[in-house]
Amino acid sequence: MAQPLKLGLFGFGTVGQGLYGVLNETRGLNAEIVRICVKDRQKQRPIAREHFTFEPSELLEDPELDVIVELIDTADEAFAIVQRALANGKAVVTANKKMVAEHLGELVELQQQYGVPLLYEAACAGSIPIVRNLEEYYDNDLLSSLSGVLNGTCNYILTRMYEESVDYAPVLADAQAKGFAESDPTLDVDGLDAKYKLVILTGHAFGTIPAPADVLTLGIRQASAHDFQFAREKGYKLQLEALSRRLPGERLASYVLPRFVRPSDLIHNVSQEFNGVVVEAAFAEQQFFMGKGAGSYPTASAVLSDISALSFSYKYSYKKRAQNAPLALDRDVTLRVYLRYPTGHEPVLEQLGVHNIEVRHSAEGVSYVIGRLQLGTLLSRHEELRHEPFFLALMPEQPELDQGEPAEAAAAEAVAARS
Ligand code: HSE
Repeated sequence: MAQPLKLGLFGFGTVGQGLYGVLNETRGLNAEIVRICVKDRQKQRPIAREHFTFEPSELLEDPELDVIVELIDTADEAFAIVQRALANGKAVVTANKKMVAEHLGELVELQQQYGVPLLYEAACAGSIPIVRNLEEYYDNDLLSSLSGVLNGTCNYILTRMYEESVDYAPVLADAQAKGFAESDPTLDVDGLDAKYKLVILTGHAFGTIPAPADVLTLGIRQASAHDFQFAREKGYKLQLEALSRRLPGERLASYVLPRFVRPSDLIHNVSQEFNGVVVEAAFAEQQFFMGKGAGSYPTASAVLSDISALSFSYKYSYKKRAQNAPLALDRDVTLRVYLRYPTGHEPVLEQLGVHNIEVRHSAEGVSYVIGRLQLGTLLSRHEELRHEPFFLALMPEQPELDQGEPAEAAAAEAVAARS
């Protein structure tokens, strides 16, 4: 039997307003937003002033409220709100991926200490119900990898740059106008938002929560017309992929990197602001989830689902943490990469330890190589690389598939693999 819930909402931006809208249109869920706490006293808002307060304790200390819904975009303030709400015995729903990723271990303990749940489906892959699936559906299956497109803004930018040859800056501005991007869009384009989501999902898939700083992360800031031209010529698309893969010997490879994707790849058709998640499990084998990864209503739908789950007393049980030995992040993984740089910047190849170079190309001041490098070497330089004029993307493995007509060869391989 569902319990009626009284909600206190922090934040009334893209997702907060979306939640207000979807709650008003939802039948069968007995949940009411009693009050909304916001910061900016001057801002014009689409609903009456009487709904708002500027004083957090009016929500956090109100014994009438059962649930705090935290939808602000500052991770530190969000963490303070969530800590206080849990300590006051209130269940919490949040969409703040940075806050959850940076404090997940502590948040698990706080839930146990105070005996109240924290749900965060909306923090990972927007409308795709992936956290609860990892918790409930795959609770006993041994997962070997979780990967996919976890940032709607990057996917929207890459889709439009690839399909319409638009420039980076206007298409990023468009993603901001549509409410896909973070208030600080560098979190999106530098791959950090996808990294936070990957950290959370890795915790639920494998029971190990990687420290965000240990996850190799490069974004799409430096992607240019040269790279899309390369992709078109080879029959690839360019996507930002987040991946955690279990390796032999209780090890884990985790990274967020641009990747050239073949048509046979499950994420190839994930376009615009959609996200896609591929789960590989020992018994279920490969499964694919796709849905909108950003935007007001799609993200609010995940918040709504968490509120509904709370009305049935749902909580995460973090089974994989109890079932699995902790996995150590492996830096000694070899990656096959495309590295594009301005001609004359060849020392970067040595600095990054690029070896087994298969292709060297140079024309009109722009060069690229295809070769191999170690994940750990790239990790030690990933912060500075973001601001240098180099673009790095993973190349598909099995290069022999790309000889001749690459798209056709890969499609033929996919058909062969399925039959
Ligand atoms: N900025 C995020 C994205 C919003 O583009 O995916 C949803 O988490």
